[in-house]
Amino acid sequence: MASGNLRDEDKIDDENEVDNASDLQIYRRDPTNSPLTRTLSSFTCTSSDSPRLNIVELGSGTGVVGIAAAATLGANVTLTDLPNVTENLKFNADANAQVVARFGGEVHVVPLRWGEAGDVEGLCRDVDLVLASDVVYHEHLYDPLLKTLRLILLGKEGKRVFLMAHLKRWKKESIFFKKSRKVFDVDVVHCDDPKEGSRIGVVVYRFSPKGHLEKMYLTNVYK
Ligand SMILES: C[S@@+](CC[C@H](N)C(=O)[O-])C[C@H]1O[C@@H](n2cnc3c(N)ncnc32)[C@H](O)[C@@H]1O
Repeated sequence: MASGNLRDEDKIDDENEVDNASDLQIYRRDPTNSPLTRTLSSFTCTSSDSPRLNIVELGSGTGVVGIAAAATLGANVTLTDLPNVTENLKFNADANAQVVARFGGEVHVVPLRWGEAGDVEGLCRDVDLVLASDVVYHEHLYDPLLKTLRLILLGKEGKRVFLMAHLKRWKKESIFFKKSRKVFDVDVVHCDDPKEGSRIGVVVYRFSPKGHLEKMYLTNVYK
């Protein structure tokens, strides 16, 4: 199994010291503590068949982010990556299916190549939220990834958002963010402290169609 198998220790375990707790354990103890709670609690599920949040992860790799999201949120998660990666992804999804199901979640695997409109069709009817981590690195992938994000986020009356965890490595990555800000409102929802020996930590960005958050705020205020 590639890294990312959720173990039984990841369940709520009050005997563990808080210092040793994983982010997952901390979130489960007190979901209001999570910096992502404000974003996540703003969603209502789009599918009338399923009360679960429907999530798509892009560039899943091992699938650990999507699998953790499925278990933590009891969500229906579709892990995606290049076709040659999906076999390993499926292995990891199957290996964790029982643990995820115990928390009310479900994980599926589908090939999705960034920039390919056909790969997005059919996948996205009921998507509430798009996730990714560590997907901004090669410059030639910036435009295809942005195309996929435009196809998914700008479809559904602009109600979907994209949460992306990113550890900055290269200056050139600012190009991706500059291009993104032309289409989306991009804000920072969480910053990890840097690991020892590093100047920066992982940052979680929220991308939403321009004006979406203001519209949501106004809707809530005047309800
Ligand atoms: C640096 S890895 C990150 C993997 C995982 N998200 C993580 O945080 O561990 C980038 C992932 O993006 C995927 N990827 C690269 N180019 C892609 C493309 N054109 N379409 C879809 N996925 C792609 C790679 O296969 C890889 O799994």
